[in-house]
Amino acid sequence: MIEISVEIAGIRFRNPVLTAAGPASRDGEALIKAAKGGAGGLVAKTISLKPAEVPRPCLAIINREYSLRIPGFKAYTTFGFQNAELWSDIPYQRWIEREYKLAKSTGLPLIASIGYTPEEVSRLGKLVEKAGVDGIEFSTHYLGFDPRPLEEVAKSLKESVDIPIFAKLSPHLPDITPFAKAVEPYVDGIVAINTYGPTLHIDIETGKPLLGGENGYGWLSGPALKPIAVRYVADIARAVKKPVIGVGGIMSGKDAIEHIMAGAWAVEICTGAILEGPEIYGRVVREIEEFLKTHGYDSVEDIRGIALKWIPEKPLRTEAIPPSLDPRKCTGCGICEKACVYEAIEMIEDIKTGKRISRTIEERCYGCGLCVSICPTRARYFE
Ligand SMILES: Cc1cc2nc3c(=O)[nH]c(=O)nc-3n(C[C@H](O)[C@H](O)[C@H](O)COP(=O)(O)O)c2cc1C
Repeated sequence: MIEISVEIAGIRFRNPVLTAAGPASRDGEALIKAAKGGAGGLVAKTISLKPAEVPRPCLAIINREYSLRIPGFKAYTTFGFQNAELWSDIPYQRWIEREYKLAKSTGLPLIASIGYTPEEVSRLGKLVEKAGVDGIEFSTHYLGFDPRPLEEVAKSLKESVDIPIFAKLSPHLPDITPFAKAVEPYVDGIVAINTYGPTLHIDIETGKPLLGGENGYGWLSGPALKPIAVRYVADIARAVKKPVIGVGGIMSGKDAIEHIMAGAWAVEICTGAILEGPEIYGRVVREIEEFLKTHGYDSVEDIRGIALKWIPEKPLRTEAIPPSLDPRKCTGCGICEKACVYEAIEMIEDIKTGKRISRTIEERCYGCGLCVSICPTRARYFE
């Protein structure tokens, strides 16, 4: 029996896949759908004292054709998503009177998301706590490049409520660790990350930006964001002792596992739920369970942070070590040969089986590792 539930700051989630603040958590009805779709806990859309005035258009998919160019790759791998949505355009009073009650009716733990100044979070924090939410995530998206305002917001919220609070950090900072350390004394966990940006995307058919926000800017999310998110999760997990919740680019159980191995205790999904619908939460949970089962793990905790010990402080090596090949797994597809800029791979006939397989020309191999990551069957590997 695989243990899939997780406990964070005293809150027990039936599984580690939560909603994220965004359109798929925009009101009580959306949160009920997320619960039915299999989410382990509900994080609601961010509210502030003033409802947002959201520019339109505010959602766009980008890089949609990108990954189709390499045979054997699925379209899901590199697309990105852009938004100019801001926080909730529903008045906070309606969240308190209606939306949180509907979400609570699911029986799942409910985390409110609030922003942005110390005064705002203090006032809203007390109100959402009274409304019965189980925890509070506070967005630091518009707080700038200095850890001090973040610390002030965290302190103000901590002093105003008794329920667990979580700081959600944004990725437009070269080094996240001073920010994580600044909020650590006040928070019960850290959520990483929000969208990256601002970014710009032009529709070349019209010559116009896809989004209607200021300067046509949008904020990047989806698979294009995942490596940035995983890096922040790992950096934070190494810098602080508080639980980390990973968010950014999760479309599958494998993406969630990557976040968890980087140190996340649970994950949140936003873009995936916009595009696939609420069924994504249950699908990702099933894929996590399947991975744990087939890899001999008993629980989510078994894999939490296991990648951190492999993250080197200095370069791993500077000499070229050619990768090995498992000829049984090689299908002879030739993707590695095409991708090898050093022309160090050739396709040959396996003398034992007569099958077409790849071979490394060792004296030309730069040891770059691209053939290892591009091989669709993992036939190429480093010892
Ligand atoms: C359309 C949209 C609206 C969002 N609104 C909020 C928000 O109100 N508050 C917040 O903290 N994050 C917000 N986010 C950020 C997401 O919660 C999440 O951190 C980010 O999109 C990365 O996850 P993903 O790649 O799964 O989308 C929003 C993201 C999108 C795409």
